[in-house]
Amino acid sequence: MKRTLGTCYYPEHWPEDIWAEDARRMVDLGLTWVRIGEFAWSRLEPTPGHYDWGWLDRAVDVLTGAGLRIVMGTPSATPPRWMLDRHPDMLAVDAEGRERGFGSRRHYCFSHAGYRADAAHMAGLMAARYGDRVAAWQTDNEYGCHDTIVSYSDNARRAFRDWLRHRYQTPEALNAAWSNVFWSMEYDAFDQVDLPNLTVTEPNPAHVLAFRRFASEEVQRWNRDQIAAIRAHSDAPISHNYMGRVLEFDHFALGADMEIATWDSYPMGFLLDRVPDGDKTAYLRQGDPDFQAFHHDLYRAVAACGAGGGDARWWVMEQQPGPVNWAPWNPAPLPGMVRLWSWEAFAHGAETVAWFRWRQAPFAQEQQHAGLLRPDSQPARGFVEAAEVAAELADAPDVAPVQAPVALVFDYVSQWAWEVQPQGADFDYFALCFDLYRALRSLGLSVDILPPDTATLSGYRMTLVPGLLTLTDPLRGGIAAADGMVVTGPRTDLKTDQIAFKSPMGPDIPGLDLTSVMEESLPPQGARPLAKGGAIGKWLEHIDSPEDSGEMTTDGTPTLFRRGNRVHLAGWPDTTAARRILRDLAIEAGIAITDLPDGLRIRDTGAERFVFNYAAEPRTYEGQTVPAAGVLRLSLPS
Ligand code: GAL
Repeated sequence: MKRTLGTCYYPEHWPEDIWAEDARRMVDLGLTWVRIGEFAWSRLEPTPGHYDWGWLDRAVDVLTGAGLRIVMGTPSATPPRWMLDRHPDMLAVDAEGRERGFGSRRHYCFSHAGYRADAAHMAGLMAARYGDRVAAWQTDNEYGCHDTIVSYSDNARRAFRDWLRHRYQTPEALNAAWSNVFWSMEYDAFDQVDLPNLTVTEPNPAHVLAFRRFASEEVQRWNRDQIAAIRAHSDAPISHNYMGRVLEFDHFALGADMEIATWDSYPMGFLLDRVPDGDKTAYLRQGDPDFQAFHHDLYRAVAACGAGGGDARWWVMEQQPGPVNWAPWNPAPLPGMVRLWSWEAFAHGAETVAWFRWRQAPFAQEQQHAGLLRPDSQPARGFVEAAEVAAELADAPDVAPVQAPVALVFDYVSQWAWEVQPQGADFDYFALCFDLYRALRSLGLSVDILPPDTATLSGYRMTLVPGLLTLTDPLRGGIAAADGMVVTGPRTDLKTDQIAFKSPMGPDIPGLDLTSVMEESLPPQGARPLAKGGAIGKWLEHIDSPEDSGEMTTDGTPTLFRRGNRVHLAGWPDTTAARRILRDLAIEAGIAITDLPDGLRIRDTGAERFVFNYAAEPRTYEGQTVPAAGVLRLSLPS
């Protein structure tokens, strides 16, 4: 597949007489794609029912005329001010009961039927007008960004009650499923059920988890309405641009309705804003060496679940080209990083990398955010590296991903469940998965991420299933049939979907006989050292089992149980322990590992090994120097 480049462009921000020059310069730079439209509602429908398509028609003419392919965004993330007059109750409401006001973006509540219909109507009008002129669609913009999935509005309350009615049929069934006998929380009617905020102490976790599932499904319903409106007029593939570490909706479920998965990669913004724990000083100008890769692998998996028929088409729709404006601090990337991030995405299988944005806006919220061009239209630093990537891409052999030797199962419902009842203040499902992913990557391994209902693990020499609330039936079958090693835990299969304890208590892992008789959460100062090195922190299961245990804390608690190639990890290993344990297991599973120094990371495709240096100093890989922020491409034996 041909790998391509693109950029995000806002014709409505610039005088019309520079559009043609912009388009020509994009093509000269080697860009194929331009995304437009996603925030332009106030210019497309300045007053209710009065449309001004003229400027967008001309922009589409200019851009396609220059040879660019258009991704058209639907503008529902930025409803214009008059929309609020039409629907005064459309605003999302936060957990404290405060409306999230107009004046930035994403201020709508997904459960507002009137706005949902208006947004879908707009998508349909755009599809009718541009359906045969655009090469792809993007619905909305970054669902969940700015904490916008969960809303405690009256509309959400009504929709939640309907959802409960549909799911449980009778209040008695709901009471039984949630065990509402506890604290006399039983209901006689669905209309008595409120949203789980503003309670005196914590609400019933079953209530909260149901609400989180509902909120995720509301996003799907919202998105489906836009898809249907677009599909009525256009066959072009549909995508959405996901964000980094936005976990409030099930991306696998949402992605199943679309042909392309894309995400917005801001490595340096993420480092200070979203990367869990750890010392970040070494990577202040590079971003975390594993955070982008994790999301590349995650969204490749989302794409593989998509409507594209197994093609796993995924892009980076927005790539950071220089300093951003929204992290607590916003340093400039080290020279070389804009190129490195782009190649890293291609090495993980991205079809397209598009930079956000073409020209820095000298106004409004993002005036300090770099573009490929400076506000005076001169090339910014990122432009030079974008040109380098374009030139390299023109010469590059195709970058074809292959199945990785190792897989990691990731599940959004588990994220919600452990958020609802973490039991330890720092128990964070994403962080657990990310710690283990990081350990695998420090061993030079390429990783595939899999959804929780994966039915076959065939081809994987090792699969990790950490923190999964409940093993799904398909995955249980996959584990039972797997030839490779399967490592479950910690905190896998300890509760049911309804967040009640299980009986038998389990974890019930095919091939292992385990009963967790007690679980502890451990504060940072209470980590338990392991006899073989490293420590268990945050979480420890005390398990009764006849299985072999090759690991013990120094005070005698077994922490790893195995029979053959089925392994259960009963605690959250620190960096040293995770790396040691996974290293030994990988070697046993016949996987070739490479102990990488800090900053160096590897990604294998079918024919090549890409070596990325996230360090600020040169590193050596098998006798070759990889410059700071540099990329090495090596042929792999066929
Ligand atoms: C993204 C968003 C863009 C822009 C960008 C700035 O989250 O989709 O519209 O705001 O961040 O980094």
